[in-house]
Amino acid sequence: MAKVELNGIRKVYKGDVVAIGNANVTVEDKEFVVLVGPSGCGKSTLLRMIAGLEEITGGDLLIDGARVNDISPKDRNIAMVFQNYALYPHMTVFDNMAFGLKLRKFPKKEIKRRVEETSEILGLHEFLHRRPKEMSGGQRQRVAIGRAIVRQPKVFLFDEPLSNLDAKLRVQMRMEIKRLHKSLQATMIYVTHDQIEAMTLGDKIVVLKDGAVQQIDSPMNLYNNPANRFVAGFIGSPAMNFINGRIAEGQELQFVAEGIQFGIPGELGLREKLRPFAGKEVIFGFRPEYMYDKKQEREKQLSVDLNIVIDTIEMIGSESFNYFYFQGNPERSFCFRGSSEHRYESGQEVKVGVDVKRLLFFDRATEHRI
Ligand SMILES: Nc1ncnc2c1ncn2[C@@H]1O[C@H](COP(=O)(O)OP(=O)(O)O)[C@@H](O)[C@H]1O
Ligand SMILES: [Mg+2]
Repeated sequence: MAKVELNGIRKVYKGDVVAIGNANVTVEDKEFVVLVGPSGCGKSTLLRMIAGLEEITGGDLLIDGARVNDISPKDRNIAMVFQNYALYPHMTVFDNMAFGLKLRKFPKKEIKRRVEETSEILGLHEFLHRRPKEMSGGQRQRVAIGRAIVRQPKVFLFDEPLSNLDAKLRVQMRMEIKRLHKSLQATMIYVTHDQIEAMTLGDKIVVLKDGAVQQIDSPMNLYNNPANRFVAGFIGSPAMNFINGRIAEGQELQFVAEGIQFGIPGELGLREKLRPFAGKEVIFGFRPEYMYDKKQEREKQLSVDLNIVIDTIEMIGSESFNYFYFQGNPERSFCFRGSSEHRYESGQEVKVGVDVKRLLFFDRATEHRI
């Protein structure tokens, strides 16, 4: 059993740097939770407080219901894997993996058994006598993970463990970590700035910004029901398009912005939600994948239609990212995701529709989703 609860956790560094404001997060036993957010948002600080490497300024940290704020790191039974591997260069792989157990005075036989078993799981058994510098980045990261596994901790913490690997290896290691989570049945908290990594790994994702939790949700809920403009823009690639405008009430409720204007459709209770915002500033958000060329796909009728001018085109093989602006305003660039079969040209005018079920609006004052 290993449930981790952060109740009103706060961290203020010397010089009044508020790294974490007031974090409330529950990580259930055996859950894989990902903390994601841009660089500097407080991810490492949060993880280091859980590990006991950083003092907690306020709030309660509970592990299996017991408050551990003042318990030393070595007594928390938590293992942490770092981005830079933090291996001892002069030690062999075996000794690197065994080190923590030796410190804790485990019997030699037990250490050998655990290291060998773990090296089998991670495909490291042939390398036990090598030193870190004789291994690739991916292998080194496996040793760092192995060093955590041999300790059989209650909780695994990962701080951007794949950031130093190339893209292909990252995908491979991502799958290995996922498999590992399944086979070890352990509680894992994983930190990354990469939203794709977060989406593919997490059962539950915690989105952080400026030391504040923005939303805690499943990957698909973050994508479909972002709580605010930040989450909407952070999750998804290419990123969601946003247009600042306002809600106008004439004969019908309308969204009005420079070069674009449309009636708010009745779907999904949008009119009811937006009516209180009549006369107010809002942000209209729409994902590149929920737009389609009206000429290409006539069957999808219910849409908000926009006339756009294609600016630049990125063909990535399976699909194309077409960047565009609204007539008259090349300053504001947006993205429309197209199939690879249809090619556009720069300067081409296209009528695109945005699926009415996929329109998102945010309050411009609070940036909360409406
Ligand atoms: N030891 C420290 N002393 C003062 N400020 C720090 C210290 N460590 C981190 N910070 C600040 O706290 C904030 C969060 O940092 P960090 O947790 O490392 O972010 P992340 O891991 O999300 O990139 C940043 O503004 C950073 O500059
Ligand atoms: Mg960090």
